[in-house]
Amino acid sequence: MITWHAFAKLTLSLHVLGVRPDGYHELDALTVSVSEPHDELTVMRLDRPFAVELELSGPAAPGIGDGPDNLASRAAHALLAHASERAGGSGVHLALRKQIPAGAGLGGGSADAAAVLLAVNRLLALDLTLVELAAIGARIGSDVPFCVYGGAAHMRGRGERIEPAVVPELHVLVAVPPFALSTPAVYRAWDELGGPRSTRVVPGPAGVGPLRNDLEPAAEHVEPRLREFREHLERLAGAPALLAGSGSACAVAFDDPDAARAAGGRAAAGLRAPTSVVGVTRGTGVEPRS
Ligand code: C5P
Repeated sequence: MITWHAFAKLTLSLHVLGVRPDGYHELDALTVSVSEPHDELTVMRLDRPFAVELELSGPAAPGIGDGPDNLASRAAHALLAHASERAGGSGVHLALRKQIPAGAGLGGGSADAAAVLLAVNRLLALDLTLVELAAIGARIGSDVPFCVYGGAAHMRGRGERIEPAVVPELHVLVAVPPFALSTPAVYRAWDELGGPRSTRVVPGPAGVGPLRNDLEPAAEHVEPRLREFREHLERLAGAPALLAGSGSACAVAFDDPDAARAAGGRAAAGLRAPTSVVGVTRGTGVEPRS
């Protein structure tokens, strides 16, 4: 048995460069793994070849399917198929405690898929490299390769081209509004609005430079309550917020932990929504080779 933390991912900036021939969008994003929220995965070996069982629990589990379409199940199936000889007739039971809210732009499903790849690789001694795991992950979802490496990275292409980034120690206030957003719906709105570049540029933390999220106008078009929520958060935090990924969570990055904690206290009291002040987690520590 092995347990693994699946950390949420947070885009500090997200530039959408255009639409690709495959319909996906070409991205240039600066992304970090944050300590909270995170899901908890426990994997047990089964004696049945290729068997994948998934059991969900936790506050973010309601509404999430536990069938073969769940990204955690898909990742396990893909890995067992890829390494069938080394898996030696084993299957896996996955117990996933879900705490990362769905539809918040925090990459919960992708983090789970990456955690499954890493944990099953370790439990069954499959001995695949991170590059190999990330390549399997890229077939599951655009954000899975980043979640395999974790830490801080530039994501390019569809999201599968990962380069390690250096970011200073950050303290991020994350607030999740009481409504979710659908990623495909936000990208569709970006197309329909003519591919806008966001004009709202916020100063980044020291050493990171100005930040913007090009999906923000599209997300605020799809869900008009988002702008009101973001502006309320900004008033309470006393600093500009940015949308996380395709939303609906919003985040404010601070250099100073005391300022982050104080802003977090005001936001928790003023917003009727889950808020947390989180640190950036370290990655796997291994340089991606591609
Ligand atoms: O890759 P993934 O299945 O996680 O993407 C979910 C949806 O987000 C896609 O169906 C697509 O609508 C959109 N997307 C995109 N361009 C990207 C990543 C995601 O259009 N680079």
